[in-house]
Amino acid sequence: MQTIPRKEKLVIPSTPFRYFWFVTKPFKWWALAVTMVVIIAAVFNQSSAYFFRLIVDAVEADDPVKALRYALLYPVAVLIIQLMFRGSGLLGRQWVTNASKYSYDRLTEYLLGHSHGYFIDRFAGSLMSKMQNVNNAVSNLIPDMLWQHLTALVSFIVTIIFLIVVDINAALTFAFLIATLVLYNRYAAPTKVKYSRENAAANTALRAGLIDTITNVQAVRQYSRNKLEAERIFNLSTQLKNIFDKNWGYSVRIMFWNGIILFVFSLVMFWFLVYGWQNGKTSTGEVVLILALYSQIAGTLIFIGRAFNNAAEMVGEMREGLEEILLPYEIIDTPNAQPLLADQAQIDWKGVGFEFSGNAVFKDFDLHIPSGQRLGLVGQSGAGKTTFVSLLLRQHDISAGSIEIDGQDIALVTQDSLRQAIAVVPQEPALFHRSIRENILYGNPNATEAEMLEVAKKAQAHDFISELPDGYETLVGERGVKLSGGQKQRVAIARAMLKDAPILVLDEATSALDSESEVAIQKALESLMEGRTVIAIAHRLSTLRKMDRIIVMENGRIIEDGNHEELSRSGGVYEKLWNHQAGGFMPDE
Ligand SMILES: Nc1ncnc2c1ncn2[C@@H]1O[C@H](COP(=O)(O)OP(=O)(O)OP(=O)(O)O)[C@@H](O)[C@H]1O
Ligand SMILES: [Mg+2]
Repeated sequence: MQTIPRKEKLVIPSTPFRYFWFVTKPFKWWALAVTMVVIIAAVFNQSSAYFFRLIVDAVEADDPVKALRYALLYPVAVLIIQLMFRGSGLLGRQWVTNASKYSYDRLTEYLLGHSHGYFIDRFAGSLMSKMQNVNNAVSNLIPDMLWQHLTALVSFIVTIIFLIVVDINAALTFAFLIATLVLYNRYAAPTKVKYSRENAAANTALRAGLIDTITNVQAVRQYSRNKLEAERIFNLSTQLKNIFDKNWGYSVRIMFWNGIILFVFSLVMFWFLVYGWQNGKTSTGEVVLILALYSQIAGTLIFIGRAFNNAAEMVGEMREGLEEILLPYEIIDTPNAQPLLADQAQIDWKGVGFEFSGNAVFKDFDLHIPSGQRLGLVGQSGAGKTTFVSLLLRQHDISAGSIEIDGQDIALVTQDSLRQAIAVVPQEPALFHRSIRENILYGNPNATEAEMLEVAKKAQAHDFISELPDGYETLVGERGVKLSGGQKQRVAIARAMLKDAPILVLDEATSALDSESEVAIQKALESLMEGRTVIAIAHRLSTLRKMDRIIVMENGRIIEDGNHEELSRSGGVYEKLWNHQAGGFMPDE
């Protein structure tokens, strides 16, 4: 990914119109140029109706030369106007394609800054479609505004000017027509926006539901729940249909009233025109001119509601997307956060409290891990071991106490430097759908090929990778589904090895390996642990035997603390577990 070094905080406005300006500002000269060209082209375009008047006047005056000249000039004028519009298209391209890319890039950048908790609470599919809604608005609404809304506005103004010259009453009627249409459509817009937002939300829910089903299709098959899943989707699509119906119905209603308004006012306007012609106030050419002007914009007038609707709809979806993506960050660097210096890698938990929505996982938790200590963390499932890792990485903020690394509170250093100092082999490693090489190099993109191969060998991954059809170039599928659990784990270990961080966290790092691979990897892990502070979590206590120290967690506190020799004879929880397992696994209950 291309990263943009950014000193100052990324601030993105979350209201649609300010957001438009935000994505337009870097390309404002293109925006200005295209706007000018569109205005000029639209003025000429609407004014070209004047040729009809010239032709009719020449015919009435029995002047075939003049009539022929204007009749031939008209297509030439149309051609020139068309070329101007095409030119505006090329200018507009510079604005729209750049703004749309800029929008994607900035939103991605912002999105990735959200905390762990934000992503846990949201569906990937739902975030994806919100992002798309915002970008669709940028890439569709700008063209609509230029070539529909702005062009229509210019056409109205030109029409009114001609009408004023020809017949002031008809001009006033036309002005009232436009005013009435605008007022009515503005009155209707809030409801329309509301329905559009509901429509977008239902759409997003359906997409997210589908993605959830597809992602877990394994479970759907294993439990043969096709029908149940289909029903869930039916419910979501029913909700979408209902709001879609309502939304559509409202559009028809708006367009119906636009048609009625248009009908009433055009009756009056044409009556004035014909009346003026009868009284000799208006020439035949002028009547033809007005008719031509009117016929050029009648279509626009009927669909003025639709243009409003589309804009309102897109703005509605955009607002929804922006509000969700641009929520303030839950976890932010303090204003003068300094990079963490972790050369000793000594870790201190001081009176730490943390709860998940009221469910306390840590209570007044104290722990001192000296530099270079290898600590084993034991506790029943749900005791908070993985949460321990999350908190150390500051993926959630704690509610009491502090966590310090070499005397620096992790809440006061930059998150980047903190995470740079800690290599994690997670409980359920997820790999990118990229080549295995890229997945390993993720630990350190600057590593050499030789270094990459070395860690792959140490992590016992080289052999199986070499046997894959494309070796290190093999793509691993979404989240790594094309590899076995043990293979994924070995790739994750290689990746962590390459990161070369002073603190190493192993969350069930070898749980998916058979004993043989584990024995082989254990050696590699030992060399990896050399000179680092290590926190290793394991249900299989035998893997923790060689740790310098083992702590047992229960109810958010440490209940036993010592090395294997001590704890296995202490008569406590650890001893009971150890005897129970006899080198095997730790029971969950
Ligand atoms: N995102 C979350 N939202 C709410 N509660 C959570 C969340 N993540 C974990 N918990 C809860 O916090 C507690 C600790 O979970 P944690 O994953 O840390 O346990 P663990 O010790 O790693 O268990 P295991 O051995 O099964 O991996 C559990 O009660 C769990 O239900
Ligand atoms: Mg866990």
